[in-house]
Amino acid sequence: MARNLDDVNHLVVVCVGKDCRKRGASAVRRAAKDCLQEAGVRRTSLVLKTKCAGMCKQGPVLCHQPSNTWLTDATPKRVRTLLTTLLEG
Ligand code: FES
Repeated sequence: MARNLDDVNHLVVVCVGKDCRKRGASAVRRAAKDCLQEAGVRRTSLVLKTKCAGMCKQGPVLCHQPSNTWLTDATPKRVRTLLTTLLEG
């Protein structure tokens, strides 16, 4: 986790609202953290929780910045694929 906001290169915001939690948001959040750790960029990244993002039927939902990439119906596998692609790009 980045200690200084100026060092943040990757921000992942995961909805942990009620519906997303029911659909596995905790595992999605864990996968995002693990993926960033394994890629060696955990110190320059932040994984934050947010409450309902208003897309409950498509949850779990997350957003990566600065790419402004949204992922709906997120699973740990889909999060890993997305972040790996973004980190390679
Ligand atoms: S609970 Fe996640 S979008 Fe509503």
